[in-house]
Formats: sequence, structure tokens, C-alpha cells
Amino acid sequence: LPPIDEGEALAAMRWLSFEPAMRGWMDDRASYLPPVELGAVMRAPGVAEIIESRHPDYAVGDLVQGLFGWQEHVVIRTTGDQPRTMPPGLEPEMAMSVLGGSALTAYFGLLDIGQPRPGETVVVSGAAGAVGSIAGQIAKLKGCRTIGVAGGPEKCAWVVEACGFDACIDYKNDDVAARLRELCPEGVDVYFENVGGAILEAVLDNLAMHARLVMCGMISGYNDTQPGPSNLSRLIAFRGRMQGFILFDYASRMHEGTTALAGWLQEGKLRYRTDVQRGFENVPRTFLRLFSGENQGKQLLKL
Ligand SMILES: NC(=O)c1ccc[n+]([C@@H]2O[C@H](COP(=O)([O-])OP(=O)(O)OC[C@H]3O[C@@H](n4cnc5c(N)ncnc54)[C@H](OP(=O)(O)O)[C@@H]3O)[C@@H](O)[C@H]2O)c1
Repeated sequence: LPPIDEGEALAAMRWLSFEPAMRGWMDDRASYLPPVELGAVMRAPGVAEIIESRHPDYAVGDLVQGLFGWQEHVVIRTTGDQPRTMPPGLEPEMAMSVLGGSALTAYFGLLDIGQPRPGETVVVSGAAGAVGSIAGQIAKLKGCRTIGVAGGPEKCAWVVEACGFDACIDYKNDDVAARLRELCPEGVDVYFENVGGAILEAVLDNLAMHARLVMCGMISGYNDTQPGPSNLSRLIAFRGRMQGFILFDYASRMHEGTTALAGWLQEGKLRYRTDVQRGFENVPRTFLRLFSGENQGKQLLKL
């Protein structure tokens, strides 16, 4: 490791956080962040511990959170993005899951774009995941009937029994379209989209009037070209609205989101789980767990 200069701090990575969107960062095309260059460190969020400091804002032992990347050490300089120092006592696992970007994505996407009203029917795909499980629980807190879609009986059982969804459709074993018709006889008012493909098509066929489709992610197409839904015209007949968003859009409202999430957590109203892998050599394998569905909740890796 090179010696650090005046104004720099050296940090050792302690945790990495994995998100499906990182797959998109590898694509060579314009998006909300520039593509990761070939040969560059793969961009990734995480938590690091300051182990040496000549930087005015960081002391040895501080835990800092930022977009550090897949590397074991990071040099923090006074120029560029300054990582956030974590408040003492806040567990990194919690800061990267139920109080982190995944949960905030659920909060702003559901409430700001989905605008759920009490009594409405909300469907969430990727319902056992880091974002989806929180989106569904917030919908329940807002008085909605909430139906999840997830892969496999274990995930569906967790979604209903731990997270309190009214039902969960196992897309790997059930006929999604038939189950949606059965579980949402009045149609779907809000759809929180994490997956795309056939599940989106089934929801479009079962819309309520003035439905809102919150386009958060479409993971089923991140590694393949995804055939578009053949029935987008259902939006016209049902006066539906489909809107994408990126968490960064809400940068000025993070305090609001974190305060609400922390409040529900303290009241015992939010459940979450983290899937912690270990060892730097397992970084690529851990990333791929998001795409095989092996991850049980927020995917993290401890170094
Ligand atoms: N817009 C934003 O700002 C923003 C921010 C963060 C995340 N996101 C999006 O939110 C979504 C969820 O992210 P997350 O971090 O919470 O991940 P996650 O849901 O914890 O993990 C990904 C899950 O996706 C499911 N999946 C993978 N391939 C699939 C396929 N072909 N068909 C159906 N399901 C598949 C798997 O669940 P099953 O086992 O149930 O198949 C897997 O566990 C992603 O689409 C992500 O891109 C958007």
C-alpha cells in the first residue's frame, strides 16, 4: 500500500453491498451513472474503517459509507465525493439494508410514485428481496391489501408470515395470471415493479382503473434482452400511469425517508433479513446470487 499524503485517509473495506443495478453499470451505454470502464475497479457501495488518517474529517476507527468499489483498501482524499461517517452505534448491516438505499428506494418509489390509498390493492414483484419486502410492508402500513410475487415456497412463506403481506404468488410454481385474477378481483391499483417480463405482462392484464405502475427495476432483463410486454395498450383502456425513478432523485429528502423507516423499525413494524457472505474471493459469486435468486434478503459480504 502506498503511504498516504497530507489530506488523505486510508480505509480498509469491511462490508460490500450488492445491488442488481450494478449489472447495468457494466453496460457501455448512457445511464444515470457513467459506465464502469474496462480495467477500472468495479463500483460498489460499502462500509470501510479508517485505519490511518491525515484527513481533517476522519479519525482512525471511524466507519464510513460510500461508493468504494470491489477493493480491499481505499484512499479517501479531500477532493471528490466525501464518504459519510456512520453515527456511532449504528450497525453497518442495518445501515445497508432496512435503513439504507434499498429501503429508501421502496419508501420513495411506493409513496411518491405509487401513491397508495387505504383499501387499494398493491402488488409487489421481487417481494422477498431487499426493496420489495420493504415496499410491501409500507403498503400494509398505509392500509392497502398487499400481494407479493416471489420465487419459491420458502420466500413466499417469509413474505406472508414475517412481512405480513396478505398473499404471495410463487412465480416459479404458480400460474401468475390466474392467481392475480383470483387474488385481485377488483384489479391492481399499484404495481411495484422489480422484475419485468412475464410478471409485468400478467399485471398489465389485470389493472384497476387509474392504476399506477412504479418502475423500480426489471431484473429479469438485466442479463438477457427482454421481450417487451405485448399488452402495454392496457394502460390506455385503464388510464394507467407507468413511471420510472432512481433513488438519487430523492437526495434532498433522505432524512425524511430514514426518519420514517427508523420510526417503523423502532415500533417493531418492519421486518428484514440480510444474507451475509464472506471473503473477498467470493465477491463475484456473491453478486451472481442476486440473479439466481439464492439471496435471502439484502445481499452483503463481510470482509
Ligand atoms: N430505481 C432505483 O433507484 C433502484 C434502487 C435499488 C434497486 N432497484 C431495483 O430493485 C429491484 C430489487 O433490487 P434488490 O436490491 O432488492 O434485489 P433483491 O430483490 O434482494 O434480489 C434480486 C431478486 O430478484 C429476483 N430475480 C432474479 N432474477 C429474476 C428473474 N429472471 N425473474 C424474476 N425474479 C428474478 C430474485 O428473487 P426470486 O428468488 O424471488 O426470483 C432475487 O432474489 C431490482 O430490479 C433493482 O434493479 C432500483
